[in-house]
Amino acid sequence: MAELPIYTKQQLALRNGQDKPQIWVAYLGVIYDVTESRLWRNGKHYEHWAGQDLTDELADAPHAEGVFEKFDAVGKLV
Ligand code: HEM
Repeated sequence: MAELPIYTKQQLALRNGQDKPQIWVAYLGVIYDVTESRLWRNGKHYEHWAGQDLTDELADAPHAEGVFEKFDAVGKLV
């Protein structure tokens, strides 16, 4: 985890499912690549959009943070 590259909010924002092919979501400062998830197609997941820090929004989800376990952490958010 210590070796993960650091990205800014602006860099994360480009991975929103619209501007670049990758779809990334940040949670507790860690950026996860959810590109392969059918549930995040086009960067949209229910009323939530990728390309941003969704830490505060997890409280609205019917699931806990365990959903991130199967995805690779690709970076850390500044
Ligand atoms: C209205 C709010 C939300 C709803 C209704 C919702 C619903 C769901 C459902 C039904 C699943 C698949 C089954 C499961 O693992 O429970 C899922 C998976 C997931 N959710 Fe959410 N979710 C919401 C918000 C969020 C938020 C805010 C995040 C990020 C902080 C998030 C991240 C994920 C991830 C990463 C997965 C795994 C996707 C996969 O396995 O392909 N969800 N969500």
